[in-house]
Amino acid sequence: MSDIYGLATKALHLIDAETAHGLTIQALKLGLGPVDRNGDAPSLAVEIAGLKLSNPIGLAAGFDKNAEAPVAMLAAGFGMVECGTVTPKPQAGNPRPRLFRLTEDLAVINRMGFNNEGLEPFAARLAALKRPLRGPVGANLGANKDAQDRTQDYVTGLRRVWGLADYVTVNISSPNTPGLRNLQSRAALEDLTGRVAEARAALNTDPAYNPPILLKVAPDLADDEVADIVGAVTASGFNGIIVSNTTISRP
Ligand SMILES: Cc1cc2nc3c(=O)[nH]c(=O)nc-3n(C[C@H](O)[C@H](O)[C@H](O)COP(=O)(O)O)c2cc1C
Repeated sequence: MSDIYGLATKALHLIDAETAHGLTIQALKLGLGPVDRNGDAPSLAVEIAGLKLSNPIGLAAGFDKNAEAPVAMLAAGFGMVECGTVTPKPQAGNPRPRLFRLTEDLAVINRMGFNNEGLEPFAARLAALKRPLRGPVGANLGANKDAQDRTQDYVTGLRRVWGLADYVTVNISSPNTPGLRNLQSRAALEDLTGRVAEARAALNTDPAYNPPILLKVAPDLADDEVADIVGAVTASGFNGIIVSNTTISRP
């Protein structure tokens, strides 16, 4: 089987990176993805913010922006899958090309700009998942580029995925939405975490469901910004910080 995937990888590298990514998602939706039939050794199990993972390797946001293939990626062996980033309204993202392979470095440069189908199809797909799942599935929330009140977009997202996601990420880390990372400054951050916490308190009526809320940050932060982030996260009762998105520096 692994030879088939080796061959598929070579074939996908002959075409542009974003097209290859799209084809991969389609193949996963058709059930053509790899399946880990062995399961994980019990010693690999970890618990993060109350979430139980059978192994500590998760799939970060950006691979499955529209929540199309979380079950396939859990079946492939990931301990958790984070879907998104999803914004309230569908968004085209930056003009193509916007995903660039660095073949020698086994890496890519991402300038996608939160392209996604929007909250409605995303939430419908999460709602259609047959539970129990093999691992946690998270929802990574973002703000539309043209939002007047970006904080409100996160509140809208939280309300829509409430009851549907095992955890929620408030993503203020993207290098590709102009001004988004300004939400990491102290006043904006206190407003954001405060309003999200308020929305959470209002939604939190079922003692059996109170998903962890995590803040995802950029790596390009000064020490005082890190202190502000930790302060705001702690004060608002968020459950953790995802460190981190990709750097904007090119050393
Ligand atoms: C093509 C691409 C798209 C991404 N899209 C998102 C996204 O939509 N939301 C997000 O929070 N992070 C996104 N990321 C960042 C990843 O989730 C991750 O934080 C980052 O790649 C750093 O992890 P790594 O060192 O394992 O690559 C994206 C990354 C790449 C390469």
